[in-house]
Amino acid sequence: MIATKSLLLPTAKPETAMQSHPEIPRHIAIIMDGNGRWAKERGLPRLEGHRAGAESVREVMEACITLGVDYLTLYAFSSENWNRPETEVKALMGLLDRFLKEKAKDLDERNVRLLAIGQLDRLPKKTRDLLEKIQARTANYTRMTLVLALSYGSREEIVSAARSLATDAVSGRISPEEIDCKLFASRLHTADIPDPDLLVRTSGEMRVSNFLLWQISYAEMVILKKFWPEFRQADLFESVKEYQRRHRRFGAL
Ligand code: IPE
Ligand code: IPE
Ligand code: MG
Repeated sequence: MIATKSLLLPTAKPETAMQSHPEIPRHIAIIMDGNGRWAKERGLPRLEGHRAGAESVREVMEACITLGVDYLTLYAFSSENWNRPETEVKALMGLLDRFLKEKAKDLDERNVRLLAIGQLDRLPKKTRDLLEKIQARTANYTRMTLVLALSYGSREEIVSAARSLATDAVSGRISPEEIDCKLFASRLHTADIPDPDLLVRTSGEMRVSNFLLWQISYAEMVILKKFWPEFRQADLFESVKEYQRRHRRFGAL
């Protein structure tokens, strides 16, 4: 049994409720890092680290469902990750396809909606088709939203939001004065998703690596030393406990 003791759990959460207990972060975002180093430490090829990391994804999903988290965003592949050797990129895409195929039924059973964000047109057609199919099928599920950040880069996202607003301004659809934070956010990939409350990164790296730069303005950060393949439900619960010890001030007192 996993120790959730001393964790402030929601009292009751109806299956369809979208608003969590206030002590539970409504949105958790995770930079899943350290697969390669985990494998290297064991004398295994990097791919084995990625493979083992898929198990951690299952764990974190279960933990978030247990807690009643509304949104779980996983940084699975960055726009910079395209610069890795072709063999690794290919292997990662293969693993992603496999994960999506295996997960589809699980999402149905658990009433979990899937969303993908990023430059999805850069993904192989097969992967795009799979994503589209699962997103359409799970569109009305309400227990939790699993957001996969794929081929995702925050700077690109911000630039494309600026471009779309500039286009509208030039064509007269909006005036520059109308552009505010709310309108800007509505042009990001995350338009309909609340900002993350908690950002977790594994592998001890103290950086955000082009992930949700706009959206994490006021997220609480928890950096764990362990590599992603070692991440288990208990680590998520510990991260939420740490979050619950924080005093969020949002610039006020
Ligand atoms: C995270 O693990 C997975 C992806 C970025 C796709 P890494 O592959 O970055 O592993 P390390 O950080 O090199 O150990
Ligand atoms: C961030 O990890 C991207 C993902 C976890 C998908 P990286 O391993 O690519 O980032 P850096 O190179 O350590 O900044
Ligand atoms: Mg890494």
